[in-house]
Amino acid sequence: MTVCVEGFLEEVGPQVTGWAWLPADPARRLRLSLLLDGGSGSVLRFDTLADRHRGDLQSAGKGDGRCGFAFTVPAAFAAHEHDVDVRLPDFPGIRLSGAPRRAIPVLGPVTLRAVHPAQDDAERLSGFLAGMARLQGGSAAAVPDAETIRSWLATPGYGSGYGRAERGWLMAERNGRIVGHCRIGPDWPAEPGTGGLALGIELHPDVRSHGLGHALMRAAEDWATGRGARLELAVLPHNARALALYRKLGYTDLGPVAHPATGEVHRHMARPLPPRGTPRSAVVTLVL
Ligand SMILES: CC(C)(COP(=O)(O)OP(=O)(O)OC[C@H]1O[C@@H](n2cnc3c(N)ncnc32)[C@H](O)[C@@H]1OP(=O)(O)O)[C@@H](O)C(=O)NCCC(=O)NCCS
Repeated sequence: MTVCVEGFLEEVGPQVTGWAWLPADPARRLRLSLLLDGGSGSVLRFDTLADRHRGDLQSAGKGDGRCGFAFTVPAAFAAHEHDVDVRLPDFPGIRLSGAPRRAIPVLGPVTLRAVHPAQDDAERLSGFLAGMARLQGGSAAAVPDAETIRSWLATPGYGSGYGRAERGWLMAERNGRIVGHCRIGPDWPAEPGTGGLALGIELHPDVRSHGLGHALMRAAEDWATGRGARLELAVLPHNARALALYRKLGYTDLGPVAHPATGEVHRHMARPLPPRGTPRSAVVTLVL
């Protein structure tokens, strides 16, 4: 029998938060085992209950909304990088969606660079995108494979007259692993022939809120300088973190725009690029 447990591991770090709920038995409070692995051979196990009331979960139809959890990690442990897994002891073999994660108190050195089509970057990027899709509880079927990434990079753009390739894919690497990416090219929501280049950014949840999104957006701007007139993006209205970042970087709101495939209404934002400068696409290593 397949057990359908809904839930998600949301935050790791000083607090581990999320929710877990069994639609088939909506009033049941699920038991969770938190496994914290600091890498020294010993794994700490803490048991907790997903029984905290959360208005957002109730509004989303998750029973009476008493299915959240928030666990405070012992301070000495939380100060160091560690892995976090969440299991459901009453359902052996089941792991909470969104797990495992890594709690990273200090990001340290991160390298930002453009994907190189002639190296194995495209394979690695495709693998990263597939991992992100699975982490979010989705399927990796729609993720572009390495060949699709290479041919997207090689496809000519609008021919905006800037005389340089209009497609770039930047990636952020930490300890040799891709932890984020940013795609820039002649796509929705930019209109063909207007000089606008669309930008899409995504970081692994383990490395968010360390300033890396800000740094990657700046690197994208450097890459796009001299290749287009403007960077444009579409953001969902409830994505508070992304909206805060874009506003801070000087993006202005151009109004609502519906996604061509899903119809979902986004906010269309844009920021002008410096006029006809020279792109700066060198490898950048940051310490965050
Ligand atoms: C959006 C995203 C790229 C931002 O990157 P990030 O590294 O988390 O953001 P940064 O740490 O650079 O923070 C940038 C600003 O966002 C805001 N911010 C950071 N964490 C936040 C949070 N948890 N909630 C609300 N705002 C937050 C702050 O204003 C911050 O500026 P500050 O320096 O004044 O604190 C990243 O969170 C991400 O990949 N999210 C999931 C994918 C996504 O939403 N992509 C955008 C689609 S349009």
